[in-house]
Amino acid sequence: MSVIILGIESSCDDTSAAVIRDQYLLSNIISNQEIHKSYGGVVPELASRAHQANIIPVVDVALKKAGITIKDINAVAYTRGPGLLGSLLVGASFAKGVALAQGVPVIAVNHLQGHVLSHFIKDEFNMPQPRFPFLCLLVSGGHTQIMLVKGPMEMEVVGQTIDDAAGEAFDKCAKVMGLPYPGGPVIDELAKTGNPAFLKLAKPSIPGLDFSFSGLKTSFLYTLRDKLAEDPQFISQNKPDICASLQNTIIEILLAKVEQAVKMYKIKEIAIAGGVSANSGLRKALQELGEKRGWQVYLPQKRYTTDNAAMIAIVGYFSLLSGKTSPLDEPPLARLPID
Ligand code: KG4
Ligand code: ZN
Repeated sequence: MSVIILGIESSCDDTSAAVIRDQYLLSNIISNQEIHKSYGGVVPELASRAHQANIIPVVDVALKKAGITIKDINAVAYTRGPGLLGSLLVGASFAKGVALAQGVPVIAVNHLQGHVLSHFIKDEFNMPQPRFPFLCLLVSGGHTQIMLVKGPMEMEVVGQTIDDAAGEAFDKCAKVMGLPYPGGPVIDELAKTGNPAFLKLAKPSIPGLDFSFSGLKTSFLYTLRDKLAEDPQFISQNKPDICASLQNTIIEILLAKVEQAVKMYKIKEIAIAGGVSANSGLRKALQELGEKRGWQVYLPQKRYTTDNAAMIAIVGYFSLLSGKTSPLDEPPLARLPID
């Protein structure tokens, strides 16, 4: 018998609903909240209000696109955390309401596990899936981690950032340059025609598999401040080169730790996930490094890199397979460790 899961994601500023039948994606609807652009970052209060307005139409479209009705679902998977509490509450309450009304179980999902398991969403593109155990570099606006993934329900954080996340570094440096939010995709685009050796920026020396990006952010800020003192047009006249230098430094920091993780765990199945895994420079650099080192590299489809409910639904699917559902009185949590 096939299993139909409705997934709900509302951890930050995207309201998303998805339907999967077994592992196969039937629909994945994402409503981005444009309102934050004018503030240069996500405003939590506005995000939760927008989720309230968006959630019913988004779910409605997801069901219609999937060609099913709410009566067909076997379980509702929702993001329990980590994320913005007000935003999480909207998705969690909605999911529980639907589950109660339909008499089906809820499955509380860790958002980070969702990003990792996005590699297992089956669709018309039939992408190869990582084989267990694999290492996953999870890079997003809120997280930068290396995960040792032993199975769909068995993963361990083996390295993580001690301060800012890689996506945060992109976004904060973009803000310094006067670029719009979110800065990651804008930097990615500008960097395509820039010289990555234009600026020399500080790289951290953090032991083990942990990361740090706050030093890079400061180095970027001070470098631009000094250059602007000499030439007030420095940013406006060198945007592609500045972006390429910054992006290249972030990629070098990330990939150095991946290399180290491969050596430590002797695993050559490497995946990336999370918003920053959409970065074209990172994708290319990882692919090239993988070819050089004989790794099997798995790049997620771009549509599964930033926050989406398909990745929450797929975790719901694997949870249900392993017999795990969740109580209705479990509250969402802003901080929710994966292991
Ligand atoms: O996974 P995600 O949607 O949300 C979190 O869970 O944080 O990631 C959002 C982050 C933002 O920091 C955004 O700037 C970054 O992903 N991002 C990118 C690119 N696309 C999104 N960073 C670099 N290059 C991109 N192409
Ligand atoms: Zn995310």
